[in-house]
Amino acid sequence: MEKVKVALVGFGTIGSGVARLLLEEGPRIARGARKQVELAYVVDKDLKTKRNVTLPDGLLSDDLDRALNDPDVEVVVQLVGGTDAARSIMLRALDSGKNVVTANKALLAAHGPELFDKARQLGRTIAFEAAVGGGIPVIATIGQSLTANRIESIDAILNGTCNFILSEMEQHGSDYEDVVAEAQRLGYAEADPTMDVDGSDATQKLAILAQLAFGASVDWKDIPRMGIDSLAAADIQCAQGMGYSIRLVATARLGTAGLELCVAPTFVSEGTPLAGVQGAFNAVQIVGDAVGPLLLHGLGAGQNPTASAVVADLIDTLAGRTAITFNALNLWSKQTVGVPIRALREIPGRFYLRLDIETQVDAVNQIARVLQEHNTAIDSLAQYEDEESEDRAGMVIMTQETTEGNITDAVGQIEKLPFVQAEAVRCRVAD
Ligand code: HSE
Repeated sequence: MEKVKVALVGFGTIGSGVARLLLEEGPRIARGARKQVELAYVVDKDLKTKRNVTLPDGLLSDDLDRALNDPDVEVVVQLVGGTDAARSIMLRALDSGKNVVTANKALLAAHGPELFDKARQLGRTIAFEAAVGGGIPVIATIGQSLTANRIESIDAILNGTCNFILSEMEQHGSDYEDVVAEAQRLGYAEADPTMDVDGSDATQKLAILAQLAFGASVDWKDIPRMGIDSLAAADIQCAQGMGYSIRLVATARLGTAGLELCVAPTFVSEGTPLAGVQGAFNAVQIVGDAVGPLLLHGLGAGQNPTASAVVADLIDTLAGRTAITFNALNLWSKQTVGVPIRALREIPGRFYLRLDIETQVDAVNQIARVLQEHNTAIDSLAQYEDEESEDRAGMVIMTQETTEGNITDAVGQIEKLPFVQAEAVRCRVAD
């Protein structure tokens, strides 16, 4: 059997899981790749931190050049996070003639066109199953299994950390800060968990899916995004009282006016698949014109699920399957004419608003008037006492369908009313 060498660059949580699979499951990997795979180099700047895998002596070094200059290295598994160093490592790997496997969604969302063009020019491939949905094979499903379809919509839970936080708060009434710390300890969260809780990570993944499923080239920073960082226990309780769970949902929906993209904490009705997604699980609901509705569910974060996707990509690359898909999909190419993106302000939706107000006689009227001026009808409105102050109250409003533009303008004006005490909390409400 032919022997090939692989270099692993980035020996963090996922890198350690990948190294363990490669070291312990050689025969299984060789069967899939039809090549004997040698983990020949593990490269990381940090040579000191103890990882939960033991490498053979001499394997770990900080010498990237040695790995890239070895002509027997066929694939570089690039698991460095962030964008700047990761971009330069990927470009160097491609320039050295290596195929690349990566889990780095931030890198692809920021530099997809440049990296994919470079790989095409050099006749190399980039595989990225682990960049979206952790262990869920969503890239293969859309990129290979659903190619007979026009994708109509994707509604997905794409961040394991946020889902873990929301479901722990919902089920156990856990404190937000404690659950974030636990998500970090369990290896779900990004190095900077702000990227998880402010919705950036899910939005980067949505930008990748928009390219893959709709050929839409969109800067992830242009996608309307709200995180879960402004939510409080009160929001989770309000949602539960009305028969909903809150989930961070990434949506891509093809309408007649273009592709609607957004990421937001969303009220999803109890009993629906997304409401049932617990812990670090992710779920992706896809509707294709031929296949109809489809649901993928699995662990979206964590060492082993993500390593599963990385090693599957490595096997596909070594077996020659990645090259076929990579060339057929032609992602982030100038030749691909994607669907138009619908302007952010036009995206329709129903919304939940929670306001903290100083009670006064005409507060409800003033708020209702602002909503009316912005073409937003109220479905229900409830006010509850603030346990700590008799002068203050919480107000919860469910709107009828309006637009992002209307609700944004209305909330901006409501927040300026003198009796409104803090920034409004806003969630979308799923149909
Ligand atoms: N921080 C990410 C998450 C890791 O929580 O989903 C997987 O991309």
